[in-house]
Amino acid sequence: MKITVVGAGAVGATCADNIIRRELAEEVVLLDIKEGLSEGKALDMFQTATLCGFDTKITGSTNDYSKTAGSGVVVITSGIPRKPGMTREELIGTNANIVKGVTENILQHSPDAIIIIVSNPMDTMTQLTLQTSGLPKNRIIGMGGILDSARFKTYLSLAMDCPPNDIHGTVIGGHGDTTMIPLTRLATRNGVPVSQFLDEATLQKVAADTMVGGATLTKLIGTSAWYAPGAAVAELVESIVRDQKHIFPCCVALNGEYGQSDICLGVPVVIGKNGWEEIIDYKLNEEEQAAFAKSADAVRSMNSVL
Ligand code: 2OP
Repeated sequence: MKITVVGAGAVGATCADNIIRRELAEEVVLLDIKEGLSEGKALDMFQTATLCGFDTKITGSTNDYSKTAGSGVVVITSGIPRKPGMTREELIGTNANIVKGVTENILQHSPDAIIIIVSNPMDTMTQLTLQTSGLPKNRIIGMGGILDSARFKTYLSLAMDCPPNDIHGTVIGGHGDTTMIPLTRLATRNGVPVSQFLDEATLQKVAADTMVGGATLTKLIGTSAWYAPGAAVAELVESIVRDQKHIFPCCVALNGEYGQSDICLGVPVVIGKNGWEEIIDYKLNEEEQAAFAKSADAVRSMNSVL
């Protein structure tokens, strides 16, 4: 399979790097509008093949979409990233035009691709792609919940001083500082509810830290994070290309599930070779369901800007 990553900035390049290291494709194409950037980063990455022991070929392309032809999965990271103090929502005007143009170009050469949206504000960019591409809804996946859940599990593990991989936890809702919903009630440490290890105040702090997880990093680094976003995309891509049927929280089109319709929002879905294949019902309690409805309202009002 060929996989394309559009945008050779830090997030796009890290996605590509994780994808080639996991050997998820025969070829990865990294595309960017900036002359030479993707070619340079792709060559640098390909020169790690003998050092890291992978066989995936990676090539760069300056805005030549013919090189992406026949891609099975396309990851769109294009657009401007957040600067300190900015919300993801403030990027909407600039990034909407970019994402729309990129999707049109991609589909001309890869009409059967599954599209993964990373560009922010991700929920709105996913909605935009659903509305403008004409693709079946199962082939449009917004990546945010996997990343937010990774941050949630990391903060839980730090609070409990235990290995992150012992934690199961999920963040649903929007991929925004005020719209995401860390599902604390359902989080476990190897099957044991986290509330057995942490008091309510600590759990609330973990949830709050998770929600501003991206903003915290933007403040520290001066721009949007890339290591965890890149690894989160690779996790999603792996479940598609290896048809693993993992359950991941992803931003997908809802049609009555979780009480919402005509909106793309983060819910747990089964990810396999057809894209997102099934929405899983987590049986939210009243409080969680209310938070989900509130998140949907906020994302809906952001979508109205489109
Ligand atoms: C983040 O949360 C880039 O939205 C991404 O870091």
